[in-house]
Amino acid sequence: MSTSIDYSQKIPNNVDLKSDKRLQRALEAWQPDYIDWWREMGPTDFNEKEVYLRTAVSVDRDGWANYGFVAMPEYRWGIFLTPSEKNRTIGFGDDAEMEAWQQVPGEHRNALRRIIVTQADTEPASVEQQRLLGKTAPSLYDMRNLFQVNAEEGRHLWAMVYVLHRYFGRDGREEADELLQRRSGNPDHPRILGTFNEPCRNWLSFFCFTMFTDRDGKFQLLALAESGFDPLARSCRFMLTEEAHHLFVGQTGIGRIIQRTCEVMNEHPGCDPKDHGAIPLEIIQRQINFWNSSSNDLFGGEISSNASNFFAAGLKGRVFESKIEDDHKVVNEIYHMDVWEDGKLVKREVPMRNAMNEVLRDEYVKDNDKGVAYWNRVCEKAGVEFRFRLPHKRFNRKIGMYAEARFDVEGNPVSEEAWSAIEAEVLPTEADNAYVDSLMVPCYKPGEFAGWISPPAKGINGQPIEMDYVKL
Ligand SMILES: [Fe+2]
Ligand SMILES: [Fe+2]
Repeated sequence: MSTSIDYSQKIPNNVDLKSDKRLQRALEAWQPDYIDWWREMGPTDFNEKEVYLRTAVSVDRDGWANYGFVAMPEYRWGIFLTPSEKNRTIGFGDDAEMEAWQQVPGEHRNALRRIIVTQADTEPASVEQQRLLGKTAPSLYDMRNLFQVNAEEGRHLWAMVYVLHRYFGRDGREEADELLQRRSGNPDHPRILGTFNEPCRNWLSFFCFTMFTDRDGKFQLLALAESGFDPLARSCRFMLTEEAHHLFVGQTGIGRIIQRTCEVMNEHPGCDPKDHGAIPLEIIQRQINFWNSSSNDLFGGEISSNASNFFAAGLKGRVFESKIEDDHKVVNEIYHMDVWEDGKLVKREVPMRNAMNEVLRDEYVKDNDKGVAYWNRVCEKAGVEFRFRLPHKRFNRKIGMYAEARFDVEGNPVSEEAWSAIEAEVLPTEADNAYVDSLMVPCYKPGEFAGWISPPAKGINGQPIEMDYVKL
């Protein structure tokens, strides 16, 4: 296998697809269904327009991508895995230090299939959630970023579908078909995970989604990049390379909204930013609270036998497993957890393997904190006193033990009555959403930006900010 990608094929790939005719035929048969799905459920109205997109051309660290104008349905979605490591061993769990698997081990087949399908399902789901946003893009720069994210989520679906087709036989092919049949938000045939059925109704939601929900994706991928099932690990490693831009879009997108609001607040001291077409910082904070708490749910329950089994089996590891200084079997370690028991929080010692979801969520929280610090520097620089905060991981949960009660943004339990009194302060209200929706008018002139968001610091790939990123 080489690191460069064979573009002479119908499906660009670096996995020597042409040497396996059966697999190649099966994937080439899936390809038109994928394009049909894209046309039906992908970005509306812009499929015929040329967009300045990045396409993977190699899995080398340097120079892995090409930039150029392409109409989205002609995007070269392909299958790229990072090169295999010689003699790679399993990095954790009961089989730590044994040879990594190049085929699916029979005893882990069901668990692996479930893990892969759950990850795969999020990729088309997010494209569906964001499909209307092009119509109200605040600039061509932002529209291009939206479509870049969408195209790459499509590629991540390809990455997972390859693994399903190649290693799971007929079951895998059936799963791949179903990935194109479920629909985000459809009550009869929804996407698998809750957050991926929430509508992304406006650009503030979109930026929160790419900040928090794509970041959940980053941590799931980091955990799967450690997998003892080598083809999955190598797929996820390359997906992480693309994912970094999605997180950049979210973090800087929210940062630019904050910057614009701060400017308005400074120009009109004591004003309501709404009177000047900006988004009040409190509204942004409430959206952060919603999307962050919803994304916290994606890590699953705090105490989980599934999480323990996945770790024990060598399927899903910890972030950067090789940098952790322990025996990577984690049999005797404990996790100190505030457990919700009989209506109160009690300190308990939980076997670390059972707390693996929590271990991963803790890493996620740390990463989010960096983003919040970045937003607060925007406020600081503007001389605005407001400071953003990440809600506590117990806040507003729908999954896990903390879903059984109400917690404030600091993580303190509150009564149902007290919750009713604070809810409108801590979660988006109908009025918030209506106001933000009212700002969503397209701004399609090259170099111009809607009044509620500042321009970025620089353009894409060294291009000027005022470039025609989407040729309308
Ligand atoms: Fe993705
Ligand atoms: Fe993403």
